[in-house]
Amino acid sequence: MTVVGPFGLSVQDRDLTRDVQAGLDAVETALAEAVKSDVPFITITASHLIEAGGKRFRPLLLLLAAQFGDPGAPGVVPAAVVVELTHLATLYHDDVMDEAPVRRGAPSANSRWDNSVAILTGDFLFSRASQVLADLGPEAVRMQADAFERLVTGQILETRGPGPDGDPLLHYLDVLAGKTGSLIAVSCRIGALMAGAESWMVDTLSEFGERIGIAFQLADDVLDIASDGQESGKTPGTDLREGVPTLPTLLLEQMPADPADPADTRLRELLTLDLADDELHAEALRLLRRHPALERARRETLRQAEDARALLAPLPDCAAKAALEGLCDAVAIRTM
Ligand code: IPE
Ligand code: IPE
Ligand code: MG
Ligand code: MG
Repeated sequence: MTVVGPFGLSVQDRDLTRDVQAGLDAVETALAEAVKSDVPFITITASHLIEAGGKRFRPLLLLLAAQFGDPGAPGVVPAAVVVELTHLATLYHDDVMDEAPVRRGAPSANSRWDNSVAILTGDFLFSRASQVLADLGPEAVRMQADAFERLVTGQILETRGPGPDGDPLLHYLDVLAGKTGSLIAVSCRIGALMAGAESWMVDTLSEFGERIGIAFQLADDVLDIASDGQESGKTPGTDLREGVPTLPTLLLEQMPADPADPADTRLRELLTLDLADDELHAEALRLLRRHPALERARRETLRQAEDARALLAPLPDCAAKAALEGLCDAVAIRTM
């Protein structure tokens, strides 16, 4: 068994390991090339987060999906570059929106430079993604454009909130599917499409991507609370500080208050306050980490990852399918 790529996926099959690792290496070389500009400052800002690290989760999924056709087809690696560049661009923008100081264990672009540099570098990365995408044909361009529309819609809906008549939990799940499920689904879809997989497989892999994408974001939201920042490379409690409700706090709100438990009472009170205050934020984070709502959120993440795995059932048994199943476990295990 070998570990492949920075996400730490375990793969049993030697041929698959070699193929996927070669694909990821090719993606890495192409990414470094794609962020070069004639303006040296742009090269620095655009390569900043690539050099800082990242799990390359979307390229990995795309390369695995391509195994259901011809994984050596010429569009596969460029497509993986497109989805990672698009993802990267959204990270530059997201850290401005979330006022996040740290990304991939490094200062975010907005904190290393400023918001304008971060936003424009994000735009630069989108333009580079579009240039690579243009060579992949109109069908891929359309798919990517549709996914990107959903992603941006998800981000906007998150900033708007559910509104007075909306259900906060349903709103949150909608946001997740948009901001994260869309790009992960299209990674699987374009990977399979570029490899010339049968059309039912392209659809199946895309549905799988959507579901594992949702599980991936749920896990990320649990980690925002549960992790110490080492594993995630981000500042813990950013959602809490920004007042962005995520599954743990939404489940807490659904659970009946327990007046006999002072920790529960205090946490509920804190969640109504402005947690930009460092002391209040630290207290809320500490109480939420011990609250049963966090465990419930973990269980729900696990359930979504299992749902994703079930969607793979119709696909032919092969090493890539086993690897995708392993990915479902890996996503859920991150939160444990
Ligand atoms: C972060 O994505 C944003 C989410 C959608 C959760 P990743 O967790 O894939 O970030 P990197 O690429 O590894 O930094
Ligand atoms: C990120 O969402 C989604 C996109 C970048 C589109 P979050 O704001 O929840 O992700 P992190 O925690 O900053 O990575
Ligand atoms: Mg964020
Ligand atoms: Mg965000």
